[in-house]
Amino acid sequence: MPTTDPIADPTASTPASPADTPTTSDPITPTDTATLEVARGSRVAASAERLEDIRTRPLERMDPGSPSAFRDESVFAKFERLRREDPVHYTPAEHTRMGAYWSLTTWEHIMAADTDPETFSADAGIVMRPVDDGSGASLAEAYEDPSERAAAQSQQSAQPQQNAQPFQIQSLLSMDPPEHDLHRQIVAPGVAPTRLTDLEPLIRRRAQKILDGLPVGEEFDWVDLVSKELTAMTLATLLNFPQEHRRRLTDWSDAVTAIGGPGQAIETPEERVAAMGEFFATLMGVLESRRGEEPALDFASLLAHSPHTGEFTKAQLFGDLVVLLVGGNDTTRNTITGSLYALSRWPEQFAKLRSGEAKIPSMVSETIRWQTPLTHMMRVATKDTELGGKTIRRGDRVALWYVSGNRDTAVIEDPDEFIIDRKNPRRHISFGFGIHRCLGNRLAELQLRIIWEEILVRFPEIHVVEEPVRTFDNFVRGYESMRVLIPRRN
Ligand code: HEM
Repeated sequence: MPTTDPIADPTASTPASPADTPTTSDPITPTDTATLEVARGSRVAASAERLEDIRTRPLERMDPGSPSAFRDESVFAKFERLRREDPVHYTPAEHTRMGAYWSLTTWEHIMAADTDPETFSADAGIVMRPVDDGSGASLAEAYEDPSERAAAQSQQSAQPQQNAQPFQIQSLLSMDPPEHDLHRQIVAPGVAPTRLTDLEPLIRRRAQKILDGLPVGEEFDWVDLVSKELTAMTLATLLNFPQEHRRRLTDWSDAVTAIGGPGQAIETPEERVAAMGEFFATLMGVLESRRGEEPALDFASLLAHSPHTGEFTKAQLFGDLVVLLVGGNDTTRNTITGSLYALSRWPEQFAKLRSGEAKIPSMVSETIRWQTPLTHMMRVATKDTELGGKTIRRGDRVALWYVSGNRDTAVIEDPDEFIIDRKNPRRHISFGFGIHRCLGNRLAELQLRIIWEEILVRFPEIHVVEEPVRTFDNFVRGYESMRVLIPRRN
């Protein structure tokens, strides 16, 4: 465990003693053994055969980037094995559709790479996506097991061209110093502490309105009516974009991150091209209009009025705006949904929150760790380097699996458990670390805190009525929909 930990909660520096650690009852039925072996409290669809295969297959066939393993949560079994047997792991091209890549699965190795941008550059793109390897090989053949192959087969027609982007995007998230630092410095005032203090009453009024408008006594989709609404409203404010069109921002952001395929936010390459074209035209239009207006703290205005941005390319201006919007979109949305889901899976934790025994900010941080809404960031090695006894060659791609680091028992006690009053709840790596550490982390926490303050004063009960539909994705770990019922009060 690191001795100095700048992301840790400074008010809670002593490690939890066993006596301090809350005991939790297992909310899962004893017969559900496959589930228990993956992650207590995470209800997964993975079959016992699938888990057995993950436990016994040759390591070189282990492909943590395969999206179906995120949908059924069996990916946690993969990571658990890799952390134990092969923490710095190489997946060769013949065993993945993602192109050959390294996986860093432990807290220690992820931190090492995230804090060394000279060796691990963000310049080659930060998201792992399927690549067309030119071999003509079937996408489905490359998947690891029957369930993944079945999922891949259903995507086959759409997938090979999914990487096609109609516009070049180069954002602060995929830049190295010194360029990165300049871009970050220009937009940072948009989410600075004073700005957040100013935004708080507005976010609260919106949260109140959203919750007061919910159809009490009827089932509804929490993702659509609550999680998407609040985040879309905030994103529109951050851009000073018309509120009545806020859900278009959500749709465009989803189009940027969607892995693509049937049933996804983007089904075909043509749809992606069309969505990106609209997004580009809209954002560049907003930027242009700000040039003639008084300087303000929205992201478009900050970029429009900076003395440095005259030299930025369109790809960079668009890229920065995209990352600022996309960064705040499905991350916050999936954490809002994940918080209610996790609390419903661990009812004794929900009880602690309601009684005031556990505090909302602590629950929020625990959700951000447990959910890890962005599973990884990619880097590329700029030189040959040693890590965990392995030699990573110059030009190799490296995945920093935050979702695995957050479950590393060397740092987090009982990491598969959702414990909302952990001693040090901000000790997680969901926001990354180092120079790219999430710019909007305090804004995300603020929205989560406010929505829960308002939920708790309104609704003594909220029921998640069925398992949520999870995203088919290896990057965004979240929920397509979640049916919820708020009972009528007598
Ligand atoms: C970067 C996660 C909310 C804006 C990042 C990174 C992660 C992340 C993992 C990359 C870190 C790295 O490479 O070391 C999250 C999570 C969120 C969240 C889990 C919510 C729970 C937000 C919000 C915004 C935002 C609300 C709104 C502005 C950004 C930006 C970057 C970033 C601009 C790029 C920073 C840079 O490259 O310097 N975020 N994010 N994020 N995030 Fe977030």
